[in-house]
Amino acid sequence: MNSKEQKVLVSSFEKEVSEGLTAFPKYLSSKFFYDEIGDELFQQIMELPEYYLTRAEYEIFETHKSSIIQNFDKSNGGFDLIELGAGDGKKTKVLLEELVRQNHDFIYSPIDISQNAIDGLVRNLNLEMPNVTVQGQIGEYFEVLDRLKHMNDRKKVIMVLGSNIGNLLHSRAIQFLKKLCNAMNDGDLLFIGFDQKKHPQKVLDAYNDKTGVTAAFNKNILARINKELNGNFDLDKFMHWETYDPESGTAKSYLVSKEKQTVDIDCLSLQVHFEAWESIHTEISQKYDDDIVKWLAKEAGLKIVKSFSDQNNDYKDYLITKEK
Ligand SMILES: C[S@@+](CC[C@H](N)C(=O)[O-])C[C@H]1O[C@@H](n2cnc3c(N)ncnc32)[C@H](O)[C@@H]1O
Repeated sequence: MNSKEQKVLVSSFEKEVSEGLTAFPKYLSSKFFYDEIGDELFQQIMELPEYYLTRAEYEIFETHKSSIIQNFDKSNGGFDLIELGAGDGKKTKVLLEELVRQNHDFIYSPIDISQNAIDGLVRNLNLEMPNVTVQGQIGEYFEVLDRLKHMNDRKKVIMVLGSNIGNLLHSRAIQFLKKLCNAMNDGDLLFIGFDQKKHPQKVLDAYNDKTGVTAAFNKNILARINKELNGNFDLDKFMHWETYDPESGTAKSYLVSKEKQTVDIDCLSLQVHFEAWESIHTEISQKYDDDIVKWLAKEAGLKIVKSFSDQNNDYKDYLITKEK
């Protein structure tokens, strides 16, 4: 690196883009998909016929909302409902409505890395559900979890929906769950969705839709680099590529360079060279079964209390507590 290139990399976006695009093989974190455009594209993904995850979790909530909520607030003593990576909260609203209907005393705290997502969700809930007290926060999972333990003395129910945990490989997922465990007091609950292993083609299709919305979503990370870091990626020179390994249960998204090319990112004083067909790994969407979830929970000092599944057994939400 020359002196210009050694300029201080302040934001985590700058730092992580620089690290990922100078590594071999190249990678970028999927947490950077989400800005105003990325959020909108993800909402379109949730409507796709191929993207079964949202419908499956929605079905679970519609079918089991009463039982789920009973577990949230057994003593009726009130609690804080904290959601990590809340997005547009569409499914969460099913649970919020039921909580309001049953007169539970709770505060809803959605947390997301996307300011646009939090602003939209808070605005929408204030309009649609004025009886719900909402305290939105912008933050990254791992940073937020450090603050959560000392939030207050009330019971906490922490939700992680949409199989967001699937963006983390097992070693990182265990670190995440350990942080969650550390943020929980005895009696607190974790309610977390894990997408299940299934026909490999169904998994592949979910991340490789025919209309190309997922491809646009994947490429939005390059568009963000162009916009925010003054880059000159030509999005047409990259293609979206998806793989799924049924043995490990790991689906992976890549952006593949269709030709040899060099990209400038002015704000990082960085030139990135791509060989023809070189890849950038952008996302992991891990699939699970009960044994894997049990193992992850145990490694983190947690235990499964109960699980809820959709009719196809495509997806499961688990109620988890600290292991005593
Ligand atoms: C796949 S979407 C799912 C949204 C929602 N949980 C659902 O089930 O519909 C993932 C959400 O998590 C947020 N997110 C991703 N990585 C994050 C991170 N490291 N910290 C905080 N939020 C994150 C994104 O901005 C996005 O809103």
